[in-house]
Amino acid sequence: MKIAVLGTGYVGLVTAAGLAEFGHSVVGADKMADKIERIRRGEIPIYEPGLGALLAANLRRGTLSFSADLAAAVQAADVLFVCVGTPQGDDGSADMAQIEEVSRLIAENLNGYKVVVEKSTVPVKTSVWIKRTISLYKKNEEEFDVASNPEFLREGSAVEDFLHPDRIIIGVESDRARDLMLRIYDRHKDRILVTNIDTAELIKHASNSFLALKISYINLMANLCERTEADVELVAKGMGLDPRIGARFLKAGIGFGGSCFPKDLKALIKIGEDLGVDMSLLKETDRINQARVRLFLDKLKSALWILGDKTIAVLGLAFKPETDDVREAPSIRIVQALLDEGARVRLYDPKAADNMRELFPEDGVRVVYGASPAEAAEGANALLVCTDWAEFLDLDLANVKERMANPIFIDGRNLYDPAAVRALGFEYFSIGRK
Ligand code: UDX
Repeated sequence: MKIAVLGTGYVGLVTAAGLAEFGHSVVGADKMADKIERIRRGEIPIYEPGLGALLAANLRRGTLSFSADLAAAVQAADVLFVCVGTPQGDDGSADMAQIEEVSRLIAENLNGYKVVVEKSTVPVKTSVWIKRTISLYKKNEEEFDVASNPEFLREGSAVEDFLHPDRIIIGVESDRARDLMLRIYDRHKDRILVTNIDTAELIKHASNSFLALKISYINLMANLCERTEADVELVAKGMGLDPRIGARFLKAGIGFGGSCFPKDLKALIKIGEDLGVDMSLLKETDRINQARVRLFLDKLKSALWILGDKTIAVLGLAFKPETDDVREAPSIRIVQALLDEGARVRLYDPKAADNMRELFPEDGVRVVYGASPAEAAEGANALLVCTDWAEFLDLDLANVKERMANPIFIDGRNLYDPAAVRALGFEYFSIGRK
């Protein structure tokens, strides 16, 4: 199949590389010519395990190419995957300007039947707008269909998720579009669910918001555990043993971040309210998540009392491990709150420090980045863990403690065994357990 992937952000790059790996002839197109140039040279703008190798292998095989000529890419393809951004607008709704722009471009270059596939996370009924826009601006009688094929990939395991998906959702409204879409995913035909377009669009939102709800739920239980003798890790384990609940996404901590959950949750709340549906359940999910940072900082304050003029080491800045992404990371609000209270911060992350530097530039006094966790801990009055990077488990904590001014350790991701850390002489606090 001849496919154009329009937009080369996170989803676009993974989709282009993955579809090429499935054996299709794929062009990844983006209007940012310098970005395309860098991708062609093998410079990937994001850190994502396995993506570089997959892109390189398919560029070499000739199944994948990149172009800044969006018009040519549209003309040459039978199927167009729309992977442009839908950033959050001021009222929580998704900003659809880029989707509109691409729809007009498609209209102007429609030179035969094509299927236009929404891959970006979009509000229900977006397909109606795409369809209307293309119909409004197209210059001939060529036919097209719109389809929805939401993406469920997780950062850090995006390539794996794309190549070995749990499910592929295909929303279509014609047999012609359905048949083309089934051919694209032929190798995963045992896990395809075909629905109408509204259903496919909603499955994506419903899934993300449900997972967010699950996280806020266990965080609520963590709050209860902190006032009783219960241990949230064991509560989660006990709940997870019930296959109807499942063990995953029951990890208590400082809350969910990233480019999807916070934004998609707010977008679904807005969609529901616009449709006249009471969305309080999801509003509460968001509220519980927002409160995580304050509760975490309360632990710090109850250990240190005053934060002004204290030095706080923060390990882990990415919104989750195995990514350099800090979008909506709890660490951002934590660092900001520390600085607002007059503290100095010493920050470390294995991959995300550069992205964090753009938000909190190093000034050598109030904001310092350590080259290692131990360096970040130097002279610190307390150490915070904000991301559950596996490599933090291998830290030489005795050495870290040596370097700190006070051995106060607040673990926002329940990464360590409390008894083992306390045995080293730390005052250790974590989430929802003693
Ligand atoms: C998510 C969805 O998982 C994916 O299907 C969708 O396509 C995009 O959004 P992603 O944002 O990459 O993926 O990360 P995910 O692994 O889902 O984690 C999101 C956030 O929740 C992270 O901040 C993580 O730390 C937090 N989280 C996750 C918890 O706090 N507890 C958990 O049990 C799981």
